[in-house]
Amino acid sequence: MQIPEMVRFLVEAGRWAPSADNTQPWHFFWDGHELALKYDGKRIGPKGFQMHHRATLMAMGAVIENILQAASENHEGWDCSAPRDESEKFFSIRLNETQQNLAPPSDLPLFKRQTSRLPFTKERLPESFRDFLEDQSGLKTFEGKENLGLMEELVRKASMARFRTKEIHEWFAGSLRFGKDEVARGDGLDVSTFGLPPGGKALLRFISDWKRMGVLNSIGGYRFFSMMEAVSITKAGAVVAITGEPGMDQAIEAGRLMEQVWIEANANGLGVQPYFIVSDQLARLSEGLVPDELVGEVRSLESDVQRALELNGEILYMLLRVGFGKARPVRSVRLPQDAIFTVTRGD
Ligand SMILES: Cc1cc2nc3c(=O)[nH]c(=O)nc-3n(C[C@H](O)[C@H](O)[C@H](O)COP(=O)(O)O)c2cc1C
Repeated sequence: MQIPEMVRFLVEAGRWAPSADNTQPWHFFWDGHELALKYDGKRIGPKGFQMHHRATLMAMGAVIENILQAASENHEGWDCSAPRDESEKFFSIRLNETQQNLAPPSDLPLFKRQTSRLPFTKERLPESFRDFLEDQSGLKTFEGKENLGLMEELVRKASMARFRTKEIHEWFAGSLRFGKDEVARGDGLDVSTFGLPPGGKALLRFISDWKRMGVLNSIGGYRFFSMMEAVSITKAGAVVAITGEPGMDQAIEAGRLMEQVWIEANANGLGVQPYFIVSDQLARLSEGLVPDELVGEVRSLESDVQRALELNGEILYMLLRVGFGKARPVRSVRLPQDAIFTVTRGD
């Protein structure tokens, strides 16, 4: 079956969405009328983020946001639905013949969105972007030395727990891509996007082994690594927290909101780095997944988060470090379109 250019374009928009550890948990299906977005449980496997995991839901929200931005660029009135049943389908968009024959726009800001893990300056965010943030519910912006210090402390605490959790450490290690060939696989985290100092890659490779991390931890290694992870928070223009009610639909909406903020920030020349670690630790706490010896620490993190973010029945979905980058980040990779896109039948 001939695939309309517009359909390929919508898939392309979805394909460039962000996902935790660049796992890209999605698959697109085109049946001649409808483009459907599903969770790819087969590719992700039993050890990866499952369909209802917050990380998956937020990534799916980002895909939906990208598709809607791409679709609405030159046409309104699309027939979209978001089934919330037990199937793996998250979203679908039907294209009538006229819509199928639309010429896709040549470029959109969503294709310029990317993660920057490089240092930022402390320069204040531009007024237009601050206004954009103020207009949205579900966002809380933290600026200035004291407030950023609070955010740094949350990330540091969460990170201290993370570096002592075998399961997270091994999962992260497995997602790292060091050489050209590994990066060419098209998923996972290309370590050249980390902006590591000389020797950083070798150190990362060394601690990827949990036994070695364990030895380092016995002399307080986790304190050093968590400090390294959190320190750049205070050297940024702002931290934007994405909050919302708990729930599956709400997590997808939080993912959409995250993507809107991220695209807008990048379009304003600002860099963005998400920090999922705090939200992840709190989700793990509520699911009973935090190792016994760390439960006390993560409970204390939970009350710190409640206090710092003044949450009132809402939860924290994501922290975004935002600021003017001192350098241009390396672009991350994606799986090829045919690995994430299937045509189901011709007519
Ligand atoms: C739910 C979610 C969680 C993420 N968590 C982190 C994180 O904690 N730290 C980080 O540096 N990047 C994080 N990212 C960014 C991804 O690693 C990134 O989107 C992916 O590698 C693709 O790169 P790109 O954003 O440059 O396209 C997260 C993204 C999503 C959607």
